[in-house]
Amino acid sequence: MSLSLTWIGHATVAMNIGGYTVMVDPFLEENPATEETVESVHADYILVSHGHNDHIADAVALAKKNNAPIITTLEVARWLDDQGVQTHGLNLGGQLELPFGKVKLTVAMHGSQMPDGSYGGCAVGFLLTSPLGRKIYIACDTALFGDMSLIGEEGLDLAVLPIGDYFTMGPDDALRAVKLLQPKQVMPYHYGTWDTIQQDPDAWAKRVSSETEATVHVLTPGDTLSLIE
Ligand code: NI
Ligand code: MN
Repeated sequence: MSLSLTWIGHATVAMNIGGYTVMVDPFLEENPATEETVESVHADYILVSHGHNDHIADAVALAKKNNAPIITTLEVARWLDDQGVQTHGLNLGGQLELPFGKVKLTVAMHGSQMPDGSYGGCAVGFLLTSPLGRKIYIACDTALFGDMSLIGEEGLDLAVLPIGDYFTMGPDDALRAVKLLQPKQVMPYHYGTWDTIQQDPDAWAKRVSSETEATVHVLTPGDTLSLIE
């Protein structure tokens, strides 16, 4: 069964799980890190972690183009419902089983105002479980928090972590996150897009490799990481 992850750029990630494309936090048209557009990508399912524009910008257009349901929080789902897309509005700790596998909403320490200024509830991360039991944690926008160790107890095959600083964890806290999560593999994202979040991912990878057991994958936007399923 296929299992891979393509870093589109910034926080936008396209998972391929058993032939289904699961697009996480679609930010395309105004994303400085990619040339991809709503027209150029495909999605069978869309995950949205919170209401900030760099995560939700193209969710409605992509959902309509592909007739793809959006899995998100209750508050974000109600906001999207008004725009004529199909949603699943979960809440923290809730899990949903879909044809590609399971999605659980995890705690994220971050805000979630909608683009029009309305209330967006809590920001979340995602724990995906593939049909053969592979676990992929996408932290989305978050600070470091101690309960990452509880997420790590699930036994993570891959953790996708922000290292950009300014809006999220920076490199030092992301390294501490790897120690709490203890994933087999880790991939940094949410950096490099703008001047405020420039980082050196290779320097971070060296620190992670020397201080933890995790294998680090530094991708360039557009790269695909294949995971053994
Ligand atoms: Ni954000
Ligand atoms: Mn963000």
